[in-house]
Amino acid sequence: MLPDSFIQELNAKNDIESVVSSYVSMKRRGRNLVGLCPFHGEKTPSFNLYPETNSFYCFGCGAGGDVVTFIRKIENLSYIDAVKFLADRVGMSMPEQSYNDVTAKQRMRILEANREAARLFHAFLYSKGGRAGLEYYHSRGYTDATIRRFGLGYAPQSFDFLRSELRKKGFHDEELVLAWLCARSKNGRGIYDIFRNRVMIPIIDVRGNVIAFGGRVLDDSKPKYLNSGDTLVFKKSNNLFALNYAKQGKTDHLILCEGYMDVIALHQAGFRNAVAALGTSFTADHARLLSRYTDEVVLVFDADNAGQKGAQRAIALLRDIGLRIRLVTIPDGKDPDEFIKNNGPERFKLLVERASNDVEYRLIELGKRHLLNTTDGKVNYLKEATELLAGLNSPLERDVYLGRLAADLQVSKTALQSQLSYQLKRRQKQQQDKQFTQVIRHAEASTQKANPDAKIHVRGAGAEEGLLGAILLNPDYLTAVAPLLSPEEMVTPFNRKVYEQLLSRYHQGLGIELSYLSEWYDPDEMAYITKMVREARERVSSLTIEEAKRYVSVIKREHQLAALRQPSELTPEQIQEKLNAMKQMKK
Ligand code: CTP
Ligand code: MN
Repeated sequence: MLPDSFIQELNAKNDIESVVSSYVSMKRRGRNLVGLCPFHGEKTPSFNLYPETNSFYCFGCGAGGDVVTFIRKIENLSYIDAVKFLADRVGMSMPEQSYNDVTAKQRMRILEANREAARLFHAFLYSKGGRAGLEYYHSRGYTDATIRRFGLGYAPQSFDFLRSELRKKGFHDEELVLAWLCARSKNGRGIYDIFRNRVMIPIIDVRGNVIAFGGRVLDDSKPKYLNSGDTLVFKKSNNLFALNYAKQGKTDHLILCEGYMDVIALHQAGFRNAVAALGTSFTADHARLLSRYTDEVVLVFDADNAGQKGAQRAIALLRDIGLRIRLVTIPDGKDPDEFIKNNGPERFKLLVERASNDVEYRLIELGKRHLLNTTDGKVNYLKEATELLAGLNSPLERDVYLGRLAADLQVSKTALQSQLSYQLKRRQKQQQDKQFTQVIRHAEASTQKANPDAKIHVRGAGAEEGLLGAILLNPDYLTAVAPLLSPEEMVTPFNRKVYEQLLSRYHQGLGIELSYLSEWYDPDEMAYITKMVREARERVSSLTIEEAKRYVSVIKREHQLAALRQPSELTPEQIQEKLNAMKQMKK
């Protein structure tokens, strides 16, 4: 448990505004700040910061909490690791003995094992036994400078290379299995190296940690690539290869390609802003990650079927999050690596500069699906094309393409204009509906996770939320509330736990701000608690001790009702008696 004084200092030095601003661009609105939520895709900002309580809340997805919860969620860390992250950020040292969380230690050990493994693979590449690997890289045109820069290596044909080297360095079998470097043998007794006879590419995160590996065979055998599975320090869907380098560059766009070999070739050719997803298809998490570092993504996908499908998917996800997109199609069905090898970097640069944006690309694709020399085909094409244009955010952009469409198909721009405004209205309506159901669903989902009983006891839970929110804003209410309501009378177990904890801290004279609670609750629970505070704050003008007392009486009544609903030993007469007593209370 961390001392309150430490938490207080941590919060004072890590104000929510400056912490969040390095991930999301925020605009001031009154006392608060708003921006686009980093935890779900949205185009209109519903992500709010409350400097007064050093907390955040998203009206779209229901995420919320204190500054530590924010770091837990966005950096995917445990509570204690997030605290450490923030302490490091402002040069505070952790209180002694606090940093002994088991998973935190495991993560650290995995990162250490990975770093050692990367060193060993790299050293082996330049040893006598590593000739084949080195020749492979050289045959692909990689220079030694590139090999060093990316820390490339080679895993020998051995079940025992890493295992024995890392054991010598004090790593336990379990740690090597957790790191996805070794696997348990079938009989469960021993462990063996997973990566054998492969050239090894370390995956490095934006903080410079080696978090995983990709390994490629040297010939045409299968599987061509073997990638680390998800571990405590690595989530495939959440990391991009070479982002650690690409984010340093000053270009206004990032290049997204399919393979990490492509990325390495691009970097060597001077395109230091290239990144790739890791042995998986592009996800919404990837899109969000990119949006933290750039406004524009240039997609370079292979011309084959898989590549084009991947591009479509990535376009949709990138567009959802509001990034500008341009598309490079490499002639002759090559990938960027081969193209550069055959044609040189200058030609590739031209491709990037001339890359059309995806609207053109999609209009062309759409055109291919209709017979444009027939009236029906033309009409259908225009319908779908205006629908596509209605999805663009910029009116200017819409107008440009509308003009081009009119000219290309020799129809009047006015006619297209009215078709477009119809589509725009339709789309707006659709989006509103979608957003509404999403908001409801998200809010329900986060409450559901934190306090599943709220669904069964709607009124009781509602009153509890009202009361707890009021108390969190006005701890002094507890003086009046505590004698009236004992924790056992709370209807839902989760709220009972929160109430109990607030009471106990209050009686000890300790503060009950969100930041002190964060240690005890996971991010979903923190979101639920933050929601209570936020809702209480919205009613702040009318929030009085009288209101708090009204909540208390609703909770007491609902508690009794809930008890009655339980199968019980009571006779019908006894039940009637209880009901009468409750009626008295109501009056
Ligand atoms: N990939 C994978 N497993 C495979 C094949 C591909 O994980 N069996 C992933 C890898 O992340 C790879 C990307 O998909 O980087 C692109 O695959 P592909 O186009 O087949 O590979 P190239 O990058 O062209 O690889 P190379 O040039 O080495 O053949
Ligand atoms: Mn290739």
